[in-house]
Amino acid sequence: MRDRFLIFGAPHLLEEDLEAVMAVFRSGWIGTGPQAQALEARFAAYAQSPYAIALSSCTAALHLAIASLGIRPGEEVITTPMTFCATANAIVHAGAVPVFADVDPLTGLILPDEIEKRITPKTRAILPVHLAGRSCAMEAIVALAEQYRLFLVEDCAHAIETLYHGRHAGTFGDAGCFSFYVTKNVTAIEGGMVITPHEKLAEQIKTSALHGMSRDAWARFSDRGYKHYEVVSLGYKYNLPDVHAVLALSQLSRLEPNWQRRKAVWEQYDRAFQDLPCLIPPAKEPETRHARHLYTLLLDLEALRITRDEFLQELYARKIGCGVHYLALHLHKYYRETYHFQPQDYPNALWHSDRTVSLPLSSGLTDQDAADVIEAVLEILTQYKK
Ligand SMILES: Cc1ncc(COP(=O)(O)O)c(C=O)c1O
Repeated sequence: MRDRFLIFGAPHLLEEDLEAVMAVFRSGWIGTGPQAQALEARFAAYAQSPYAIALSSCTAALHLAIASLGIRPGEEVITTPMTFCATANAIVHAGAVPVFADVDPLTGLILPDEIEKRITPKTRAILPVHLAGRSCAMEAIVALAEQYRLFLVEDCAHAIETLYHGRHAGTFGDAGCFSFYVTKNVTAIEGGMVITPHEKLAEQIKTSALHGMSRDAWARFSDRGYKHYEVVSLGYKYNLPDVHAVLALSQLSRLEPNWQRRKAVWEQYDRAFQDLPCLIPPAKEPETRHARHLYTLLLDLEALRITRDEFLQELYARKIGCGVHYLALHLHKYYRETYHFQPQDYPNALWHSDRTVSLPLSSGLTDQDAADVIEAVLEILTQYKK
């Protein structure tokens, strides 16, 4: 057994990342400024999007993207219950009503047919989530958005490297929202990015991210002379400071080797877990690139003498950190009580939610770490097989 606990989603930071952060600390300007601008430019070029705005989180990105579309109170946004609460919370914060559509039981991805069933005269937008880094069926989702004249905002928190038919996740509709949270493939500790093809939306999001001020603080305090600002709209405090931006910027140049490393671990896991009482993630869909953000097993509970939560405890007892992505949102108290959801309203999400376990998949995993995860999973699933 390992002697050191394996942290789930540990960041993979190198000396060069820390040096980049220290250089910003030493520069005298640690707030939002040139590094945030550089991150935006690099991200826009990478994702091939005309505009990118760095923000303090993906939650902020989702909130501002939805709030800036002009959705009125009581109007509906269709999303998935198999997501982090931030996705639906952002809809609520923007004054809209989250409407869930059921998912594919094996991938956990929102199903276009289920989206269509939930469209009403009040529907204004669709918000798909590329869960684990696997692209949603964007062709069908874009077709629905066009047919019913709906906005389309993508939650790309897991999907920096995701491609669908050669295009980057986040570029299929009005906005794509990314996360640089600690466990993500690129981290700024906290941070996010919104990309959009619309100039006006980009301007509005940028202004809203800093109190609704006409110029950002960086421009106010730069060496180009003092400039007054004016509050032109009611905004928020969602800007990304340079110390955070530079950390993400520094990792962007390693996206490809980090992705390759996670892919190699993924393939090792796939081989090791073939003949056990669990399902490995389905193969990636043709003409897509899976970002390989989360490796999730679906436990075959009918063939096991333990529940999913007991399985998690067994992994922890073997010093392996793991996660659950996610307990379906319609099961959570706030959503259950506010929107009167029953567990069976979304049977596929419920089934997925009961069985899913995410194993460690950071690019920083050593071969020994991966071998330890494999050994622990094999041991538990063999021991508790009926
Ligand atoms: C699917 C999904 N959406 C949104 C978010 C929110 O991201 P952030 O923590 O950057 O606000 C997360 C973060 O964990 C996420 O996993």
